[in-house]
Amino acid sequence: MPNWVLITLSVIGSLIFIKLLFVLSILSVYKITRGAMFHPSAFIRVKTFLDAVPMRESQTLVDIGCGDGRVLSEAKKRYGVRALGFEVNPLAYAMARIRTLRLKGVTVRCKNFWNVYIGDADVIFCYLFPDVMKRLAQKLENELKPGTRVVSCNFPLPGWKHLTVLYPDSSLNNSPIYCYRYPDSCHSF
Ligand SMILES: C[S@@+](CC[C@H](N)C(=O)[O-])C[C@H]1O[C@@H](n2cnc3c(N)ncnc32)[C@H](O)[C@@H]1O
Repeated sequence: MPNWVLITLSVIGSLIFIKLLFVLSILSVYKITRGAMFHPSAFIRVKTFLDAVPMRESQTLVDIGCGDGRVLSEAKKRYGVRALGFEVNPLAYAMARIRTLRLKGVTVRCKNFWNVYIGDADVIFCYLFPDVMKRLAQKLENELKPGTRVVSCNFPLPGWKHLTVLYPDSSLNNSPIYCYRYPDSCHSF
C-alpha cells in the first residue's frame, strides 16, 4: 500500500477516534448535563464578556460548567482573578486541567455544580441550556451574596431582569450574553 494512503487512513482514523471520544464523553454525563453539553464558547464571546465585566485580583469568578477551562484561563490572564470551575464531562475536565495547569489561583473540580455551594463567587459565568435555567435561578437566589454579578451566555435567567445584553461583534458568534447583578436583577427581592 502506498505511503500516502496509509497516512490518509491514519488521519481519518484519528479524527474518527477523537469524534467518538467527544460523543462518548457527552453521553456518559448526559443524565446530569441534559442539554447543557460540552460546547466551548468562542474566544470572541469570552473577550466580550471580559471587556464588559472587569474583576479585581481579590475576587472570585466561578464558571459553573467550565468546559475546557477557557473562560477561567482568559479571566485569570486578563485580571489575575481567582477562578474556579466545575465540570463533569471527563474529556472537558481533562482539557480544562491541562489548560490551567500552570495558572496559580485557577481551580477546576470534577463536580456536579448542583451539589456545590457557589455563594462565595463575586462573578458567576454560565453557558448552559434553557431546560436548567429556572432551577439555576432558584439556586442563585438561595446562595449568592449581594453584589454578585451573573453572566449567562445565550439563555436568560427566567424571572430575572438583565442589566445589559452583550452582542459580540461577530456575525457567527453574536448570540446574546445576559448580564445581571444579584439581587437588583432578581424580581423576588
Ligand atoms: C455549553 S458548555 C460551556 C463551557 C464553558 N463554560 C464555555 O463557555 O466555554 C457547558 C458545560 O457545562 C457542563 N455541565 C453541564 N451541567 C453540569 C453540571 N451539573 N455540573 C458540572 N458541569 C456541567 C457540560 O459538561 C459542558 O461542558
